[in-house]
Amino acid sequence: MVGVALAEAFKKPTALGGPWTVYGVSRRTLPPWFPSSFLDKYIMLDTLNKENTYEILSPLSTQITHVFWFALSVNESEELNVSLNSTMLSNVLTALTSSSSSKLCHVTLQTGTKQYMGPIFDSSLSSELVPHDAPFREEYPRVPFPNFYYALEDIVTSYQQSFTYSIHRASIIIGASARSYFNTLLSLSIYALVCKRENYPFRYVGNKYSWEHFWDVSDARVLAEQQIWASVTKQAKNQAFNCTNGDVFTWKTLWKVLCDVFDVEFVPFDENEKFDFVDFMKNKGDVWDAIVEENGLHKTKMEEVTCFSAIDVTLKLKIQHVCSMNKSRDFGFHGYANTLASIEPWVQRLRQMKILPKTW
Ligand SMILES: NC(=O)c1ccc[n+]([C@@H]2O[C@H](COP(=O)([O-])OP(=O)(O)OC[C@H]3O[C@@H](n4cnc5c(N)ncnc54)[C@H](OP(=O)(O)O)[C@@H]3O)[C@@H](O)[C@H]2O)c1
Repeated sequence: MVGVALAEAFKKPTALGGPWTVYGVSRRTLPPWFPSSFLDKYIMLDTLNKENTYEILSPLSTQITHVFWFALSVNESEELNVSLNSTMLSNVLTALTSSSSSKLCHVTLQTGTKQYMGPIFDSSLSSELVPHDAPFREEYPRVPFPNFYYALEDIVTSYQQSFTYSIHRASIIIGASARSYFNTLLSLSIYALVCKRENYPFRYVGNKYSWEHFWDVSDARVLAEQQIWASVTKQAKNQAFNCTNGDVFTWKTLWKVLCDVFDVEFVPFDENEKFDFVDFMKNKGDVWDAIVEENGLHKTKMEEVTCFSAIDVTLKLKIQHVCSMNKSRDFGFHGYANTLASIEPWVQRLRQMKILPKTW
């Protein structure tokens, strides 16, 4: 999701440090909705495969100056997340530092607020977690549980003699992609469209706490901007930064925005009404298939492009999920986005990309 926004930002004539030559890497063929003009070269590669990664990336080590790390492997346990995500990053860095004339000078890592909360999606650990107080600040100590973000940070810092790094901690990301494991906006959009088509009320999927308390999100464009800024800015080197829109909202207000965008009735949250969102969406794949077919959209399967379980966990947290952006501003990054105003344009983007139907 941020990879698309980053590639787009690199190709703007005003891009800091530009002009950039952009290589995109992932396992699958480039999706049909990905504007090919954003990339100079696309490489299909499974970075879990050490030999292939070395074979394909080591010849590029004399050309690649910056790595922007978004690769993600999500598994049932955080221990496995640690192992597989570390393997991917190590394989890539080994290949790109293999030559004595390696050009690699900076690596950005995109991580997130599990930094401050612990592994909330590992059900064997989640009940034991005690998150830090909001607003989350970069200097908070690590939460004493396994966390693949910590493992990735340790890997990049171990290369300090070879290159600089920056770490970018995102909240829920708002962007446009149909290849992201965690894709809140697309998931909620599909939920709204299914409710609309089947005449179900578009009920809120979280708890009373998140409905009423402050939250933040991270616009993919702000993340892209901050990562480019940090990669070419001396004082930002070897630092970790939160990266959110810089404002807060309640889910009650954001839900009203979603209702307007999809033209569905706003239903106030009722805590006495039991609603299992994940269960409700379980058998709605055929409704989505029909929407895709009737509107001539790019073929997507609901189970592959939505993250209902993750949304269920996240929006039922009883914390104010808010990050401090003070450190980032103090260091000179002033990017921001107006969250409530940003939703409609992102939905429009998903419509233009033929991932969501235009009007309906
Ligand atoms: N999405 C969010 O709301 C959110 C919120 C906070 C933090 N974060 C964090 O941000 C980071 C990036 O997440 P994201 O959501 O931006 O990721 P994403 O959109 O799901 O992108 C992950 C990319 O990694 C590629 N990939 C996965 N396995 C690979 C492999 N073995 N080799 C090569 N490429 C591989 C995927 O493409 P293929 O599948 O085609 O390989 C995909 O392009 C993660 O640390 C995540 O925890 C995300």
